[in-house]
Amino acid sequence: MRLTRGIVSSIFYEALFKVPTLRNVALTGPYMHDGSMRSLHDVVDHYNIGGKNHPNKSNLVQPLNLTNQEKDQQFITEEKFKDR
Ligand code: HEM
Repeated sequence: MRLTRGIVSSIFYEALFKVPTLRNVALTGPYMHDGSMRSLHDVVDHYNIGGKNHPNKSNLVQPLNLTNQEKDQQFITEEKFKDR
């Protein structure tokens, strides 16, 4: 482990990010730490295929195999993600 200007640097921590709140997330794109996903449709597609491969990826991120209808109904249209 290496400490650079207060930032812990180690392969054990590579690609790890705090899980963010999803409250009002429909209003705050683009998404992820680097803004690499333009829409919530992109995010749901990402989780639907089980995320990107990485040695530090959580085992909780697995393919969801949602249908197109499920992808639209179960997340994108939920009011709590855009309650303003
Ligand atoms: C279908 C289930 C899931 C949905 C719909 C979902 C949705 C999202 C969304 C919309 C973001 C972006 C938030 C933003 O940029 O403000 C996000 C980021 C994130 N999610 Fe999830 N998530 C799911 C499952 C999970 C699981 C199971 C984990 C971990 C075990 C997880 C960990 C994270 C982390 C660490 C980030 C930040 C990634 C980054 O900044 O690059 N998510 N999620």
